[in-house]
Amino acid sequence: MNQKTGILYGLGVGPGDPELITLKAARILNSADVVYAAASSKNSYSLAVSIARPHIPDLTAVKMLPFPMTADPKVKKDAWHQNALTLIEELEQKKIVAFMTLGDSMTYSTYGYVLKHVRKLAPHIPIISVPGITSYQASAACLNSPLVEGEEALLIVSGVTGGDILRKFAVTPDNLVFMKAYRNIADITVALEETGLLENSVVVKNCGLPDQQVITDIKTLESSPPNYWTLVLAKQKKIDAPEES
Ligand SMILES: C[S@@+](CC[C@H](N)C(=O)[O-])C[C@H]1O[C@@H](n2cnc3c(N)ncnc32)[C@H](O)[C@@H]1O
Repeated sequence: MNQKTGILYGLGVGPGDPELITLKAARILNSADVVYAAASSKNSYSLAVSIARPHIPDLTAVKMLPFPMTADPKVKKDAWHQNALTLIEELEQKKIVAFMTLGDSMTYSTYGYVLKHVRKLAPHIPIISVPGITSYQASAACLNSPLVEGEEALLIVSGVTGGDILRKFAVTPDNLVFMKAYRNIADITVALEETGLLENSVVVKNCGLPDQQVITDIKTLESSPPNYWTLVLAKQKKIDAPEES
């Protein structure tokens, strides 16, 4: 094939356990010319890189794109414009570029921004998105508790603005995932209590990582918010969660 440019692959690498990466993502990482991941502009550590490391050949360049941790939309937009230009420069040199993201590439992912900006700035560049196992799928598996059954529904929300996102729904969902449930865990706990879901809520921290933790009494987190890699699974039915770990 006589490609005029390289190909951008957006890879979900799973939430933590290095064995929860797809064969397809592992194959692409093994053959990419350059591998990118997002890092906070204050910190170059990338969990995605540490998960995928065994699949990246030693000689392959691994580079970070700075992702500013700010609420300022202009600063964010400018950063992603700049990051997209960095990727496009590599792609115009016919390189196979893999951009890795934690969990699934299409779920609350930095890859979403990369995709949007590259597509807008360079619509001629081929892009292939590869899904990954989400953090909430892996968390449900670690609890041995199905996410949804029969005719039930599942609501997935972000906890960045606290519990109001749940309060605004007129009907309590059968099953709920609160992602990004760290800074505002106290308000999320109150919203779960108000909607009758608190009793059957479980927090999973660092799922699939050596320090994975399951917390069944969420109220204990009110005074000491957990780290970023934290989510809440809640149900109207009882969750048969294992003993706290
Ligand atoms: C920006 S979102 C990324 C979601 C990711 N794309 C996915 O498919 O799971 C980050 C949030 O995902 C959740 N998360 C990601 N990895 C996790 C893990 N290993 N354990 C628990 N929660 C995790 C946390 O709620 C975290 O705040």
